[in-house]
Amino acid sequence: MTIRIREMKIDDLPEVFHIGESIYPSDVFPTMYRTWDEYAVTSHFNNNPNLCLVAESNGKVVGFIMATTIEKSQSAWKYGYVVWLGVRKRYQHTGVANRLYNMIEEKLKELGVRIILADIEGTNHKALNFFKKKGFERSSIYVWVKKTL
Ligand SMILES: CC(C)(COP(=O)(O)OP(=O)(O)OC[C@H]1O[C@@H](n2cnc3c(N)ncnc32)[C@H](O)[C@@H]1OP(=O)(O)O)[C@@H](O)C(=O)NCCC(=O)NCCS
Repeated sequence: MTIRIREMKIDDLPEVFHIGESIYPSDVFPTMYRTWDEYAVTSHFNNNPNLCLVAESNGKVVGFIMATTIEKSQSAWKYGYVVWLGVRKRYQHTGVANRLYNMIEEKLKELGVRIILADIEGTNHKALNFFKKKGFERSSIYVWVKKTL
């Protein structure tokens, strides 16, 4: 299987959106405050076109990564944030996300990023394993809370 990592193009957006629909169903991430919808994809692509990549196999998009950078007035550090990462189910666990991540990390480094963040549901073991393998440490100080009304 030949996989090519390249920058996302506007024509990729429908395919990326539908892959996301199949891998981010609402019952899998019930409490996630981010929602995967058309707006999430198009606005991210509009605002960060240089930080949106796809993995392609035989002309078909099989995975994607969408990141951004964050600067804070009180901090000298520039942060990278991996907002969305996904791989079509039948291509998972074959190293696609690894290649997507490696390329986005290079791009973030070139932009002067020193710390990369990602947020993951605590039950999402595949993603937790993935980020651990890429050298991420689980934050022991950041917790988000919710209240059902
Ligand atoms: C998380 C995800 C992006 C990983 O993509 P992938 O292409 O399958 O990952 P890779 O093949 O590059 O795997 C790299 C590492 O991730 C971990 N991993 C991947 N799939 C895993 C699985 N099914 N179970 C446990 N660990 C897994 C392993 O540590 C793996 O290393 P290994 O191959 O040496 O075991 C993919 O499972 C996915 O799209 N999940 C649904 C969407 C999601 O949760 N995205 C993250 C939050 S935005």
